Amino acid sequence: MRHFLTLDDFSKDDINEIIQLAISIKKESKEKNFKSYLKNQKLAMIFEKSSTRTRVSFEVGMFELGGYALFLSKKDIQIGRGESIKDTSRVISRMCDMAMLRVNSHDTLDEFAKFSSIPVINGLSDIYHPCQILADYLTMVERDHLGSVAYIGDGNNIAHSWLMLASKIGFELRVATPVGYEVNNEVLSKALKNSEKSCAKIIITNDIKKAIENADVVTTDTWISMGQEEQKAQRIRDFKGFTVNDDMMKLASKNAMFLHCLPAYKEYEVSESVFEKHSDEIFDEAENRLHIQKAIMVWLDKYR
Ligand code: CP
Ligand code: NVA
Repeated sequence: MRHFLTLDDFSKDDINEIIQLAISIKKESKEKNFKSYLKNQKLAMIFEKSSTRTRVSFEVGMFELGGYALFLSKKDIQIGRGESIKDTSRVISRMCDMAMLRVNSHDTLDEFAKFSSIPVINGLSDIYHPCQILADYLTMVERDHLGSVAYIGDGNNIAHSWLMLASKIGFELRVATPVGYEVNNEVLSKALKNSEKSCAKIIITNDIKKAIENADVVTTDTWISMGQEEQKAQRIRDFKGFTVNDDMMKLASKNAMFLHCLPAYKEYEVSESVFEKHSDEIFDEAENRLHIQKAIMVWLDKYR
């Protein structure tokens, strides 16, 4: 049985298999040919934080696959009153077929997975957001944009997931963060180790120009992740100059794509103009959350 907690646990072949599965499931659903790959299966979705895309994509995805998804907000279940993760995991394992968790701390996912007899999916942690990054990769594959990627912004869960993806697949990734907001060293070490095998080129810098010049894909994320609201004023000061705007996009390659995992905060991490010029790509990326979620669940079911 496999869990889906970080792309570090997956090979390049695994990732490509999930992407190909997503492409074929997407094609089937566009033809309204919904196949019940997970007939009668139950997905428990535990949310410690807010969500639009992750909740909707898993819930709709499970419905389209012939199964059922349960939305379990932390504040409504006993975890919120102190029941242990270990016991919650053992109960959910007895009643459901898969679990997806959005958590504050990645340790919660590891603990849940340790006691789970069903596959566990990371729906975002403080360290990684692997479902998102596979949707981003699917969007790149569909649009045949498989060149270098520039990530401009906070060295957060999205940046870490890009590091994992690039280092597994073997593409060039340049991450530009403000000073003091660099990526986690442990994640970077893992990515550099993976890159020895995949021949990925990883560049970490505080210089936006160095990251974005001739990049084929430009991406960013919010400066203020969930749980960092009280740091908002400080972060807005520290991220000055890191807004991806038209002048910055001129430095990228001529037909560069712009991706954003959403939600977007316009005129902070991205200008309204760049966002609207690339809205087709961004909303394809959002839609791809649905198709990739379905592929991840079908893949995990196949390897259980
Ligand atoms: N990108 C993403 O995970 O969106 P939600 O927080 O709305 O789920
Ligand atoms: N970095 C953001 C991603 C939201 C999808 C957060 O953790 O809030």
